[in-house]
Amino acid sequence: MLKTIIEHRSIRKYKSEAIPKEMLQKILYAGSRASTTGNMQVYSMIVSTQNNLKEKLYAAHFKQNMVTQAPVIITFCADFNRFTKWCTLRDAKPGYDNFLSFFTAAIDALLAAQNVALAAESFGLGICYLGTTTYMAQSIIDILALPKYVMPVTTLVLGFPDESPELTDRLPLEGVVHYEQYHDYNSDDIDNLYKEKENLELTKKLLIENKKESLAQIFTDNRYTKKDNEMFSKTLLEVLQKQGFMNF
Ligand SMILES: Cc1cc2nc3c(=O)[nH]c(=O)nc-3n(C[C@H](O)[C@H](O)[C@H](O)COP(=O)(O)O)c2cc1C
Repeated sequence: MLKTIIEHRSIRKYKSEAIPKEMLQKILYAGSRASTTGNMQVYSMIVSTQNNLKEKLYAAHFKQNMVTQAPVIITFCADFNRFTKWCTLRDAKPGYDNFLSFFTAAIDALLAAQNVALAAESFGLGICYLGTTTYMAQSIIDILALPKYVMPVTTLVLGFPDESPELTDRLPLEGVVHYEQYHDYNSDDIDNLYKEKENLELTKKLLIENKKESLAQIFTDNRYTKKDNEMFSKTLLEVLQKQGFMNF
């Protein structure tokens, strides 16, 4: 298991070969065995394999090629619809139309997603998460017919890899681990932690391509800008409201 975890890399090119049914079934079952808040399982996994749906999802996910290339797309949703219906039918008053419940269900959905990712990789499949799920939540709700109290949180594409990329870098472990209490970073710590990343050949190439002075500027000015973050925050909050999660 540790080997599967440590050797993870995102795969963005896939063979057209289908995932065998029993394999997919085991992968989804692994998703359902993830820890879940109060054993409520307040998430759903929507498996898309049909070309017409994948084409629509491809458009929603900023036309990332892997969405049509990979044989299986799974959208992980925070889902209080099923649980709320169960409560109502059993004369129990549900109180899940609030932000905390969304957050709880989103955590459940993400835990299931990572179990699915690892199970898929253990079968030799490749995976890639799609962050465009949160940017384009309303389009995905429309395409997948998600009812009230269901909110897409993340998406995985799955399939047999048609590339074998190098492992990507990570910050040194001491950069992300704190023992006993949080130890805040001074500027020397930041210099040390980001040194390796900043000196990668890939980084040097990116700086030239993007005409930037630092890698951080590529994040702030190009990849994850304040303007985009604020715009997508606004739409995400509106969608959460519409899906029924913002009544408190
Ligand atoms: C929540 C989340 C969203 C992501 N969204 C995208 C995406 O939309 N497109 C993409 O190509 N990669 C996406 N990725 C993959 C990351 O870019 C990738 O995990 C990171 O660069 C580290 O590389 P590695 O996964 O190969 O180790 C996403 C990863 C996560 C966790």
